[in-house]
Amino acid sequence: MRKKIVAGNWKCNTTVKEGVELAKSVNELVLTKGAKDVVVVLGTPFTHLISVAESVDSSRVNVASQNCAAEAKGAFTGEVSVSMVKSTGATYVILGHSERREYYNETSDTLNKKLALTLEQGLTPIYCCGEALAIREAGSEKEFVKQQLEETIFLLPTEKLLKIVIAYEPIWAIGTGKTASTQQAQDMLAFIRGLIADKYTKEIAEEISILYGGSCSAVNANDLFSQPDIDGGLIGGASLKAADFLAIINAF
Ligand code: 13P
Repeated sequence: MRKKIVAGNWKCNTTVKEGVELAKSVNELVLTKGAKDVVVVLGTPFTHLISVAESVDSSRVNVASQNCAAEAKGAFTGEVSVSMVKSTGATYVILGHSERREYYNETSDTLNKKLALTLEQGLTPIYCCGEALAIREAGSEKEFVKQQLEETIFLLPTEKLLKIVIAYEPIWAIGTGKTASTQQAQDMLAFIRGLIADKYTKEIAEEISILYGGSCSAVNANDLFSQPDIDGGLIGGASLKAADFLAIINAF
């Protein structure tokens, strides 16, 4: 069954101390007021993972890294491997965020290595896809997203695909305050689910959680999450405020 998931992506924000305080506030709110059937994930910087993982109740709040190395270990100065991420207590890895694709030249080939290592270590990838504004304006967003999926997660066998969470984040809606309309988000997520049904089976497509991300907030989450194919959100800015994040968790 598809899980409802609300995942925060803190991006390059907060010191360790601030991050731990935020995690503790979210944890407290989730334990006391959070919808029990929603999987909550906090995507923190690498430096925060262990402290955040130790500050939350792991049965209710999961921790994610925002990236991982494309190699298992070795002479790769500055890189952080999936097994290192796993050793902190984190259980999710955000992969292929558009900011990493755009600013750090992350390609499908690199992502395939990262996906393989993440799955090998038993962590859950949150695989991001989504088009830039020019592609949307040209009307080729579906073709573009299809290609992103075909070059990466659609190369995986069924049992591995089933371990993945997909997040559709149109780049033009990220951090801009300009959310995709509920209909635009639903259309794309239904399209992605249809692609999974075609490539795998309809039953498999019904097992996979697909999230929307891009200026998702306490104000619009309810509308977005009421759509049949939207299983939750990947939240940037609004995940940095515990009360707003809780409101999104409770927006189903
Ligand atoms: P915002 O919610 O700040 O638009 O960011 C979305 C995002 O990129 C989450 O990964």
